[in-house]
Amino acid sequence: MVALFVFVLSVGPFAALKPVNAEGETYEIGVAIYQYNDNFMTLFRNELEAYFGELAEADGNTYNLEFQDGKNDQATQTEQLNNFIAQGKDLLIANLVDPTGADQIILSAQSAEIPVVLINREPNVSTMELWPGKTTYVGVDARQSGIYQGEMIAELDNHGDINGDGKVSYLMIMGDAGNVDAEQRTQYSIETLELTIPTESLGEHQRGNWDQAKGQEIAANALSQFGEELEVIFSNNDGMALGAVQAINGAGRVINEDIYIVGVDALPEVVELLGQGQFTGTVLNDHFNQSHTAAEVAVKLLTGEEVGSYFWHDYIKVMTAEDAELKRLDYLEETVEEYQQRLIDTYGE
Ligand code: GAL
Repeated sequence: MVALFVFVLSVGPFAALKPVNAEGETYEIGVAIYQYNDNFMTLFRNELEAYFGELAEADGNTYNLEFQDGKNDQATQTEQLNNFIAQGKDLLIANLVDPTGADQIILSAQSAEIPVVLINREPNVSTMELWPGKTTYVGVDARQSGIYQGEMIAELDNHGDINGDGKVSYLMIMGDAGNVDAEQRTQYSIETLELTIPTESLGEHQRGNWDQAKGQEIAANALSQFGEELEVIFSNNDGMALGAVQAINGAGRVINEDIYIVGVDALPEVVELLGQGQFTGTVLNDHFNQSHTAAEVAVKLLTGEEVGSYFWHDYIKVMTAEDAELKRLDYLEETVEEYQQRLIDTYGE
């Protein structure tokens, strides 16, 4: 049931760049990250920085990146972004703490004529309509990652029903409230599994806010409360899943024998566990392509081009270490209207 994106554009990695000129331009870029204490966003941030370095070597320009840690607090981050605007940065890259509150930031950037590249946390469509051409979101479709999680359990011989009672009894460990990735991964993983077998949530869905220690605590409580009844753990990300793995080991349960666990991100630690048969499946949240595309789109905006409202990459299902290999892939560029039409066509939303 997964409709893979049909990529309409083919781009080389340096397609957007100006020819090398001896002088080279210097660009000031403010990068606001929702919080540094996050495994996945650390991979993303490091790759973004490294790739701007590669672009600079290739095109002779200088990209001065100033990174700020929003410490998971929107007020702190808004101040950081307003400072970037006051300093006259040439471009902003923003991983907003609360993307539903992005409008004021976009409007302030617009009045200072500073283009904005949003990453990781998908904003409302109405936000993308404020300053089209100069505001863009580079990301992945969280529904797809949920669908893959559901499929990975559905495709097991027993469909996740270890005790043979005709249903899958699961625990859901979620990211933070109101987060699009958390909501959609939760909804679509279960809806997808239910196409194959009935499911039952053991207890309420719990929020681990992407955090490993919280994931461990939630899983440990569920394991002691529900014991052998618990057959599958769905975690909205690998960080919390790594915590759950610690809890599973602590409870003396054996992954892929008497319990299954799926996450999202394909963190290196999880890929290693997969290689050892100690994890059921994850989904590559392709930080490599998202960061490279964000940088290339940023360069287009810096040279005055107008760009589409969305640049999408695919999630990739990861059952073996090879599936998680990082390689440059094309993106899908869409206007707001194209995106909305695709949601209707694909998901009936
Ligand atoms: C998700 C990712 C999580 C966390 C979150 C932050 O896409 O899977 O691990 O980084 O973004 O917004």
